[in-house]
Amino acid sequence: MNIFKILIFAVAILFIAGTASAQSLTPKEALGKAIFFDSNLSTPTGQSCASCHSPETGFTGPSSEINSTTVVYPGAIPTRFGNRKPPTAAYGGKSPIMYKKLKDNLFIGGMFWDGRATGWELGDPLAEQARGPFLNPVEQNNASKEVVINKIQNSDYATLFTQVYGHNAFDNIEMAYNQVADAVATYERSAEVNPFTSKFDYHLQGKVKLTKQEKNGEQIFNSSGKCANCHISKRHDKNTPPLFTDFSYDNLGMPKNPDNPFYTQLPEINPDGVNWIDKGLGGFLETVPQYSQYAAENYGKHKVPTLRNVDKRPYEGFVKSYGHNGFFKSLKDIVHFYNTRDVGMWPPPEVPMNVNTAELGNLGLSSENEDAIVAFLKTLSDGYMLPLARNSIADGSPTNFGLLQNTPNPFNPSTQIRYELPIAGYVTLKVYNTLGQEIATLVDGVQEAGFKSVLFDASNLPSGMYFARLVADGLTQTRKMLLLK
Ligand code: HEC
Ligand code: HEC
Repeated sequence: MNIFKILIFAVAILFIAGTASAQSLTPKEALGKAIFFDSNLSTPTGQSCASCHSPETGFTGPSSEINSTTVVYPGAIPTRFGNRKPPTAAYGGKSPIMYKKLKDNLFIGGMFWDGRATGWELGDPLAEQARGPFLNPVEQNNASKEVVINKIQNSDYATLFTQVYGHNAFDNIEMAYNQVADAVATYERSAEVNPFTSKFDYHLQGKVKLTKQEKNGEQIFNSSGKCANCHISKRHDKNTPPLFTDFSYDNLGMPKNPDNPFYTQLPEINPDGVNWIDKGLGGFLETVPQYSQYAAENYGKHKVPTLRNVDKRPYEGFVKSYGHNGFFKSLKDIVHFYNTRDVGMWPPPEVPMNVNTAELGNLGLSSENEDAIVAFLKTLSDGYMLPLARNSIADGSPTNFGLLQNTPNPFNPSTQIRYELPIAGYVTLKVYNTLGQEIATLVDGVQEAGFKSVLFDASNLPSGMYFARLVADGLTQTRKMLLLK
């Protein structure tokens, strides 16, 4: 095959793979997906929900550069910024309608860091959330619901909309707008967004073993680390594996993030300027007559986020930020904060009231303990490839030996190649072109067992198909990689 034929072949495979997953969505889920990824639904156009909630990062912010600098994402009007980091839009569908527990007056449920999409109006916090971004001036910035509905009415999925909600669906703007929110929430609850395909999930199903360090991390997470007190690691319900949140709110005493561009927004957006303080749940409760008496005891509290996909990133060096204001730039950082907030060198909390001192601040964990927790958190990323799946493409390899598909693929100009070694040994990882010529030697030497990852930089190479070949312990595996410039 010449390169051209190979390209057509590869594109055909991608296409088939793409449609296969689309076909598994119900019509309403497919409609929600079309809306979620439609970058025409902003003013000016160019911003979709996925601009801030993208699958390759576990439905949170897709830019390493933004995550490592402003943390907050610009709106459709690029000089405008909101005030918080985008949390994941996945695994939140089970958050209950916000309520106050009688026993201890704690608030549970709702969406957003401060819970303000309560679900009180629509009976569904997730759908209520989805009504916000289209009209938010610091996000998709459309002038009215009518503008959004007109855009959808003129989109290529307009017939899908009437197929799902009836042929009169566009007649009533108010109703149609709530249906948009319903479709988006339905997609956000779909198996495509919540696949439960992490190594941890397969471990629960007995299909793969955690490494010693990951197991150790799991244990500390559930015991002396106290993480599971809030990030619940038991099954959520009969049909739902652990979601790693109890949907409650807490003030962890996180420092202010001075790089948050919200501080320097115009007064129309931020009337408090540099003196702005993120009051979290308490700030929202102030606005609810029925609950304003509870505002003060909830200042600084933010919703406990799921920990699923906290480490999901497109390549090893990609930066993600953590916490409502993205103060932390690595998992090790935030775990170290939990461990040493009250005994280390940390800036003061943004909101000194209501800081939780019972469950964090001085955990007495060693650096190895912290690393183990991080290793455990890394098992929560969806898309883990089971050894069995790998064997189908391997030249007779034992369980747990594997060269994974490079990511991204197709790629330009560099891509991450991951592999796993069940035992230490002599390893070579080389790249060949379609003529069988050796292009690069990425690894050549003795390596410890474990998860490995190397970057393949093809800046100087022409477009086309390449082969990564891993040889270890007498076994060989090959993967195709497509460079598209
Ligand atoms: C400009 C970036 C941006 C865009 C565009 C955007 N979001 Fe968000 N999203 C955020 C931020 C920031 C938050 C947190 C805001 C807060 O808590 O105050 C958030 C919160 C959420 C949450 C709440 C998650 C939780 O656990 O509480 C969901 C769900 C969500 N967004 C879905 C969507 C959907 C659906 C769209 C499109 C209609 C969308 N987002 C568009 C930035 C964005
Ligand atoms: C008292 C409840 C509580 C405990 C205990 C707790 N967390 Fe959290 N966790 C939270 C809350 C609340 C947030 C969000 C706080 C904020 O942004 O202000 C959070 C945020 C996080 C985040 C950031 C997630 C994101 O999407 O930005 C990570 C990671 C995390 N926790 C891991 C852990 C680990 C690991 C432990 C144990 C060492 C732990 N947590 C213990 C309540 C808790």
